Amino acid sequence: MGRTIVITGGTSGIGLGLARHYAQAGDQVVAVGSSEAGGRRLREEVPQAHFVRSDLSSVNQTRDLVERLSAEYPAIDALVLAAFRFNPSRIRTDEGFEHTFALYVLNRWLMAEGLREPMGKAPAPVIVNLCGAGQGGRIHWDDLQLEANYRGATATMQGAKASELLGMAYADERVKYVLYNPVFVATSLHEPFKQPLRGVVRAVSALFAQPVAKAVPPIAALIDRPPAEPLTAWKKSKPIDLAVDAKQARRFEQTVRELASASTG
Ligand SMILES: NC(=O)c1ccc[n+]([C@@H]2O[C@H](COP(=O)([O-])OP(=O)(O)OC[C@H]3O[C@@H](n4cnc5c(N)ncnc54)[C@H](OP(=O)(O)O)[C@@H]3O)[C@@H](O)[C@H]2O)c1
Repeated sequence: MGRTIVITGGTSGIGLGLARHYAQAGDQVVAVGSSEAGGRRLREEVPQAHFVRSDLSSVNQTRDLVERLSAEYPAIDALVLAAFRFNPSRIRTDEGFEHTFALYVLNRWLMAEGLREPMGKAPAPVIVNLCGAGQGGRIHWDDLQLEANYRGATATMQGAKASELLGMAYADERVKYVLYNPVFVATSLHEPFKQPLRGVVRAVSALFAQPVAKAVPPIAALIDRPPAEPLTAWKKSKPIDLAVDAKQARRFEQTVRELASASTG
């Protein structure tokens, strides 16, 4: 049998492109998304893939998903973290977190941590975190939930920096952690915006963004032949150096761990 590839956000954009790629290669693909519409799209376009519906902005639903995946798939070869939504205005989740922080930070940490065991059983396991690595985001230590001054871009940049720190804190010799910044790919980027901005984003994306079919092969190459180093960072197919402080990474990971465990329902 082929490998098992779990893709959060595997029902649209780059995640869907990767789902198609691996399903066609004969691998077992598990694609997670929050909407039934996404599930329908996956079933139509990639009928071989398994769809799991879960709202990954919820700590409790993420924990249930991790439990379910661990029970159903004893070995997981690749975990692709691609679930994301840009929120122009601040959204508070039912568990009390700012939505971008919940989906981009807490979910990605919980998935990587929670699946250590099944990933450890695969021959060459790899986590690919699709994010804005190397774009200079920062952690707002005094207001992680951005209550005082929310902007969608600020939340997104904080999530990108968080990915770098959590990637560094993950540090596993066997399970390689890859931070991959696809830079600008034509997906559903325009959807969260209202007109007329929506039309502008769609037009700019049609003109300048890379098509999904071109974005997939360099990511697949890293999944098929994981780098030797525990943590690497890439902008498109070029390796980049990250200025990540190990002490800050440990401190951030501890903070995320505490926030996640405080929200066990
Ligand atoms: N496209 C780019 O130019 C670009 C640039 C830099 C980084 N990236 C990164 O690449 C990754 C993929 O981006 P994309 O543009 O391909 O994304 P996309 O087309 O917008 O797809 C996002 C995916 O996330 C899922 N999702 C959103 N909210 C969710 C939730 N609460 N629970 C579960 N799933 C959820 C969506 O499914 P549902 O709607 O059904 O939930 C969908 O499958 C993201 O991590 C993004 O940060 C993209």
